[in-house]
Amino acid sequence: MSDNHLRLGVNIDHVATVRNARGGAYPDPLRAAKLAEEAGADGITAHLREDRRHISDADIDGLMEVLSVPLNFEMAATPEMQKIALRHKPHAVCIVPEKREERTTEGGLEVAREENKLAHFIAPLRDAGCRVSIFIAADQRQIEAAHRIGAEVIELHTGAYCDAMADDHDDKANSELEALREMSVFAHSLGLEVHAGHGLTYDTVQPIAAFPEVRELNIGHFLIGEAIFRGLTPAMAEMRRLMDEARE
Ligand code: PXP
Repeated sequence: MSDNHLRLGVNIDHVATVRNARGGAYPDPLRAAKLAEEAGADGITAHLREDRRHISDADIDGLMEVLSVPLNFEMAATPEMQKIALRHKPHAVCIVPEKREERTTEGGLEVAREENKLAHFIAPLRDAGCRVSIFIAADQRQIEAAHRIGAEVIELHTGAYCDAMADDHDDKANSELEALREMSVFAHSLGLEVHAGHGLTYDTVQPIAAFPEVRELNIGHFLIGEAIFRGLTPAMAEMRRLMDEARE
């Protein structure tokens, strides 16, 4: 795979959201993960939330068993989640902020204020061989703190940029995009691997995919939604095409 290849991590949380709406076994997120893998996903992302609103513990067990591509395990910085991650030792662990009342992960992690605590939290995960990623806003203070605590990867939160695009707030979208661009350059200069994600769609992916410092995008909600209309494989193929085109 070329050095310029931008990895696509497919987040399957919302297959589990639909399953859980009826409390049964369908649709099966593991089947979606295998399909995404066959369709060229470079990794699968799943967020085990504290309230288990979508992905379940059994889903994580199953993903660890069936996946051939790396699992990016998203979790809050809690002792319970640390224990689960240490049991499974997934390829990557992405630490995200979590509030029970939020609909989705609304902001980046506050690393700078919790530096000591987070440094201790991620150390055993790193020792276990997991690549630790920290989900943060495009904010230099947070990036510096993520670097200091020993994270290898940061994932930049693209939600504010995507929301501004959806609302046709061009100035805001441009300033958010500029911050993401500058901070991906800055993080890369510190030796951090840069990922990005949240809220990305066909309309918003290309400017982010064009940043050469960004190595991976994690995309879920839009792809799973689009899969209703065209199927997961074609939905992913179009995202892949747009990412490759932006990268040229
Ligand atoms: N990256 C992280 C860290 C996330 O928390 C999420 C949402 O779970 C995503 C990427 C994917 O966001 P979306 O589902 O909006 O594409």
